Amino acid sequence: MRHLIDITDLSVQEIDELIATAEDIIENKPKYAHVCAGKKLATLFFEPSTRTRLSFEAAMYELGGHVLGFASADSSSASKGESVTDTIRTVGCYADIIAMRHPKEGAPMAASLRSTVPIINAGDGGHNHPTQTLTDLLTIHRERGSLDNFTIGFCGDLKFGRTVHSLVSALSRNKGINFIFISPAELRIPEYIKSGVLEKNGIPYREVESMEEVMPELDILYMTRVQRERFFNEADYIRLKDTYILDPSKLRDAKPDMRILHPLPRVNEIAHSVDDDPRACYFKQVENGKHVRMALIMKLLEVKA
Ligand code: CP
Repeated sequence: MRHLIDITDLSVQEIDELIATAEDIIENKPKYAHVCAGKKLATLFFEPSTRTRLSFEAAMYELGGHVLGFASADSSSASKGESVTDTIRTVGCYADIIAMRHPKEGAPMAASLRSTVPIINAGDGGHNHPTQTLTDLLTIHRERGSLDNFTIGFCGDLKFGRTVHSLVSALSRNKGINFIFISPAELRIPEYIKSGVLEKNGIPYREVESMEEVMPELDILYMTRVQRERFFNEADYIRLKDTYILDPSKLRDAKPDMRILHPLPRVNEIAHSVDDDPRACYFKQVENGKHVRMALIMKLLEVKA
């Protein structure tokens, strides 16, 4: 039985295969309409979500399966003090696979140790978000035709941004990726990613505070939200939340074929006037998320079209 807790639980070859399956799903949807007939996915969301939960649910329905679960800890027996592991052992009696989001880093890993069915980490605190990474990789592949040889700028909250942590880990295994981290000093990419992922593998990177300074170099700009829910101090959040606001004037020096990604939700960091720019890919990401999660569910349930 396989779980997906960290993106590196999947080899580069397995990620390539998931992307190929997702692209086949996009082209040949009817072929996949019944492959999960009789199977059940449980979505256990102890933390809010729109895209991840609903795309998992849509994915399972489009594979012909069924869905059960809860959208907040308040509506589950977690609110009565039940542990994550007891919840997982219980839900494993009802479902064939579980997608779980939790505010505590490591909770899906702890759950996987006691689970009788595959666990998918749908986001754990400020740590990891591997299925957003699959979404991002599918989007980059569809936009550029390859996952190698480009310069990517990560901008915003790189400290708590779990989608950034997972995507950096994934891309560190690809060829010719040039990483630029754009953040205020307080929200820099964590030391464990710099030393444990990049420096350990001899991968060069730069840290800057100005988005404008590096804009002309970027092939991909990966924007992120400053996340109010991760701050201990509201005053710090207010001070940092609007550090970066991408608007059409900032895109003047960008490459004509640069791609703008954002895992969403956004608050102020991308002006709505950017949405019609052909370089904006964040709503394509939303759609790609469903297709790559279909491919992932099939892989972990070991079903084929
Ligand atoms: N990208 C993402 O995880 O969005 P949600 O929080 O809406 O699931």
